[in-house]
Amino acid sequence: MQIKLKTQKTLILYFTLFWSCLLLGQSLPRLSKIGNKDVLLVNNAPYLILGGELGNSTATSKASMSTVWPRLKELNLNTVLVPIYWELLEPEPNQFNFDLVDELIHDARTNNLKLVFLWFGSWKNSMSSHVPAWVKTNYKKYPRAKDDKGNSQEILSPFYRTNLEADLNAYTALMRHIKEVDGKENTVIMMQPENEIGMLPVARDHSPLANKKYAEPVPDHLMEYLLANREKLNPEFNSIWAKNGYKKSGNWAEVFGEGIATEELFMAYYFAKYTNSITQAGKEIYPIPAFVNAALNAPGKAPGVYPSAGPLPHLLDIWKAASPAIDFYSPDFYNPDFEKWNNLYTRQNNPLFIPEHRFDNTVAAKAIFTIGKYQALGFSPFAIEQNPNVELKPKEILLAETYKTLGELAPVLLSQWGQNKIKGVLLDKENNTSTFILGDYEFTASHTHNLGWDPKAKDDQWEQAAALIVQTAKNEFYFLGFGTSLTFKNLKNNKTVGILKAESGHFENNTWKVFRHLNGDQTHQGRHIRAFLGTVSLQRFTLYEYE
Ligand code: DGJ
Repeated sequence: MQIKLKTQKTLILYFTLFWSCLLLGQSLPRLSKIGNKDVLLVNNAPYLILGGELGNSTATSKASMSTVWPRLKELNLNTVLVPIYWELLEPEPNQFNFDLVDELIHDARTNNLKLVFLWFGSWKNSMSSHVPAWVKTNYKKYPRAKDDKGNSQEILSPFYRTNLEADLNAYTALMRHIKEVDGKENTVIMMQPENEIGMLPVARDHSPLANKKYAEPVPDHLMEYLLANREKLNPEFNSIWAKNGYKKSGNWAEVFGEGIATEELFMAYYFAKYTNSITQAGKEIYPIPAFVNAALNAPGKAPGVYPSAGPLPHLLDIWKAASPAIDFYSPDFYNPDFEKWNNLYTRQNNPLFIPEHRFDNTVAAKAIFTIGKYQALGFSPFAIEQNPNVELKPKEILLAETYKTLGELAPVLLSQWGQNKIKGVLLDKENNTSTFILGDYEFTASHTHNLGWDPKAKDDQWEQAAALIVQTAKNEFYFLGFGTSLTFKNLKNNKTVGILKAESGHFENNTWKVFRHLNGDQTHQGRHIRAFLGTVSLQRFTLYEYE
């Protein structure tokens, strides 16, 4: 009888534990889907990252951050991407100092901001400049990557267990701490293990262990992944494998051919494996989403001249095979061709998030476009705080307006996410019109300089314009953007489409508040929906047909 009672009690205990684990687990930040698009859930609700990344040294002290927090609020961010520096976290082996982490979490909460932590661990922009002094100076125990002449670089080699174990020990201590102090509130919503990983100044590490591995057979696990996913491999990678006859076994040079392209694949595999071990160990403690970022390669340059072997589009198949714990791979933008790179990063269902974009005059337009066209998880200019003590510059004012307006529209956007109801356009002098379909309508979006009324239209450079349009009912839409005009065609009948109603306004507690009823010049007497350059407009409009 007593035994039976004990068993019952144990069962109840297990049952309670099971459910509380499940419930706690279910409240953690995580990726999910709405329709066919990825979405980040934070505190159990869909969340759009209106972010900014701090300059590299800004978060190294509380004093340095004191003027930054108000600036982040002025810019209307909801999330800030902040480095956690290994050297400051673990100044002596296994002696951790979490003061900075705690201050960041505390101050972020006070300012109603979420955090994405960037782990400046083994690698930051290829180099190992953020590893603690006890790692830097003990290069016998923590070996460096070597170039092809045997010269050591200030880059930890990913081939040595001691390096991995030291980094993993620090990262897991960090994750344990975040779980302890933030497991309930979830101020920290994602992790970025390492930063812009890449080998320099040659395509691969030539340390003794790296050379040994290079001569060994390509790991079975990688071959199995490639064979199982052969149909969906990215063409740039597929062509390298194809050129050498899709060999199924052999060492790296045998399977993929001699040369630096193969050396880069090899290096990518071991960078990814190392980063995966760290990420996996962190997730076993505290499973919030994790991504890695890439320094994009300048076209025409060789691996090693650009940081070789990071999570670049032509290496993503290798990265995916070797790093299943990483949820997605992100491009950092200091290069042109924004749309081209984003198209490359959204293949194979990779969720899009832009953790870094040079903070130039284009960021507001690109934030709108990224969220409109790709329904991305979010956007984040780099060095967002710039100079927090001087007045906001025009590009900062435009970003602040963009984030404010996107924040207001976010519930509407997220309610239509992944259902082919949201479109985005990015317009400039070369690409000055764009057409897209929403429901029964074909829209033509046009840069307002095309209308020919603005004297600036004659300039060589056109300021970038952008808009996103979301359909909320058969003939009802919201428009957010600047520098764009919209015209319409009904694809289901031959009737002419007119504007039934157009309003500018904003959301207050998720309720649409009309500011102005738009007519006259503001709709070109009923011909277009439009918004001029320089300020963000949020409009609701309905269409009708006549004959
Ligand atoms: C990309 C890196 O990820 C950032 O940390 C920073 O170094 C910028 N480049 C450039 O300043």
